[in-house]
Amino acid sequence: MIPQSFIDSLLARIDIVDVIGQSVPLKKAGVNFMARCPFHQEKTPSFSVNPQRQFYHCFGCGASGNAISFIIQHHGSGFVEAVQMLAEQAGMSVPQDSGAGPATPSGHDAHRPLLEALERVGKFFVKERLRHPRAQAYLAQRGIREDTAESFGLGYAPPGWHNLETALPDIPTAILHDSGMLVSQEAGRHHDRFRDRLMFPIHDRRGRIIGFGGRVLDQGEPKYLNSPETPLFEKGQELYGWPQARQALRQQHEILVVEGYMDVISLSQAGIAETVATLGTAITEHQIKLLFRSAERIVFAFDGDKAGRKAADRAMERVLPLLEEGKQVAFLFFPEGEDPDSFVRQHGADAFRAQMVGATPLSTHVLDHLTAGLTRHQPESQGQFLHRARPLLASLRAPWLAFALKKRMAQWLDVDNEQLEQFLGNLPTEHRPSPKPPNAPLRSRQPPPSLARQLLACLLAQPELAHEAGVPQEDRFATGDDERAVQRIAEHLRHEDVVPPLAALIEHFRHHPDEALLTSVLQREFIALAETPREELVAVYRDGLLRWAQQACQREIQQLSQQGDVEGLRQLLALRKSLDLQLKTRNQGNDSV
Ligand code: GTP
Ligand code: MN
Repeated sequence: MIPQSFIDSLLARIDIVDVIGQSVPLKKAGVNFMARCPFHQEKTPSFSVNPQRQFYHCFGCGASGNAISFIIQHHGSGFVEAVQMLAEQAGMSVPQDSGAGPATPSGHDAHRPLLEALERVGKFFVKERLRHPRAQAYLAQRGIREDTAESFGLGYAPPGWHNLETALPDIPTAILHDSGMLVSQEAGRHHDRFRDRLMFPIHDRRGRIIGFGGRVLDQGEPKYLNSPETPLFEKGQELYGWPQARQALRQQHEILVVEGYMDVISLSQAGIAETVATLGTAITEHQIKLLFRSAERIVFAFDGDKAGRKAADRAMERVLPLLEEGKQVAFLFFPEGEDPDSFVRQHGADAFRAQMVGATPLSTHVLDHLTAGLTRHQPESQGQFLHRARPLLASLRAPWLAFALKKRMAQWLDVDNEQLEQFLGNLPTEHRPSPKPPNAPLRSRQPPPSLARQLLACLLAQPELAHEAGVPQEDRFATGDDERAVQRIAEHLRHEDVVPPLAALIEHFRHHPDEALLTSVLQREFIALAETPREELVAVYRDGLLRWAQQACQREIQQLSQQGDVEGLRQLLALRKSLDLQLKTRNQGNDSV
């Protein structure tokens, strides 16, 4: 039996929106989130999740419940299994009723002695910190308060070679060794790995100590020494500061990733607790996935030195294939010699938050990366640019981002989109075997959005555009239904005196033949627009209108040439020429990238 009190605190700790959002693409609609119901087939969303009441309900099939019921219904798991899954995500361990309940899986049992040893070593280091003035003075000098040191479990490994065996004589030497705390010498002798160092315990997502980082107090090499990888501790799997950050993520939808342990601690002390660090390695795919699961926006902060730039490039490369619609990534660089710790200490938390808000969006960072050291309008530079761009574009999964990037790339190269496509040629398609979690809905690679869908997405994001920039003109020979639907919706917007809120627009088109397109654009292209600044949206929309007119004109030309209408054809060819010219001028006028 799992105690009810545990279930209560578990439900208080998790957010149903996170839980359901992992397997169902939720879209915010007022206070609720909506989706197509995962429990029955439907075209229009009637599945709603209420974050205040932590409850879901489907108006179509009547399915409803809390986060636990969702896991049971959706994964077909049992109650205990569902609780365990959620507890794991929340970093809580399910209390086992003595005797009864199933034992923890054997793999975990095998780790238990190591975990227990590390826990005790951690306590020993804390005690040593409290009684060594040297360690106290170091923390004071770095501005770390006692409550902060306590919450991060900071400790001190005293000088000397055999402190651990002396202080913890009942822990078998082999266990201390396997947990990474001892270093073997020849002839079966050992000594303490960490000596005279400030100790940073590294926790797993459940808050258990799995390793340590140790910093020298004075000058010395290496500045940081980390536990070696052990069965418990894999550097690419963990994030420093996760258990502390996790709490803060209840209120925040973004997470900050920094390079140093001290950065995490200092920011957390300043009130920016949603901060984690990698463990001295470049960020891995696994870590990025973990971050995306808990936050909508990731801000990566890097030192302004060469190593920081390099780390940023790695982060960019790894994040591009993992970026999904609705997620945002931004980059923050500090001037040479500064890091997040020194910045927040000098300028304060508000200034730091302002930096986070103004961080460079991923798309801009990609452009900076592609154009670094190149000269615009110079053929060799253009070749180099394309050479850099190809693999990045090929790795992208989010169609909207690809679209937005290509648009900026075309601007930089000073070519139109079709020419750009020709230059890019056939991009190598990625053959990454992307392991899907069991029962996750299969998300096939989506084709790039049609022009009609793109225009509609822009209109939904900025309905004023219907007044300000006009609407797609009638295309008599358009082949698809989408074109006509977009025209109707755009016309509706244009005729409204006051721009209707999205909910009203959706209501207006409920049970209307155009509802399906509206909903599907809302779920795909529209969501992906979150990152796009308004000026860019306006530019994309105006461009799209011209392209639309071009296509319509082209279709009409085909029709008339079949009919042999020479005069009509002459007029159309003139129109097409003028449209081509307008589009070209627009692209040239847009030198801002
Ligand atoms: P201080 O503010 O000087 O305490 O360090 P920091 O937090 O600013 O860290 P820094 O930017 O120097 O390094 C960032 C991270 O890289 C550290 O938190 C460590 O994880 C890792 N690191 C730094 N120096 C070393 C080193 O000498 N050896 C190893 N293995 N890792 C290091
Ligand atoms: Mn530092």
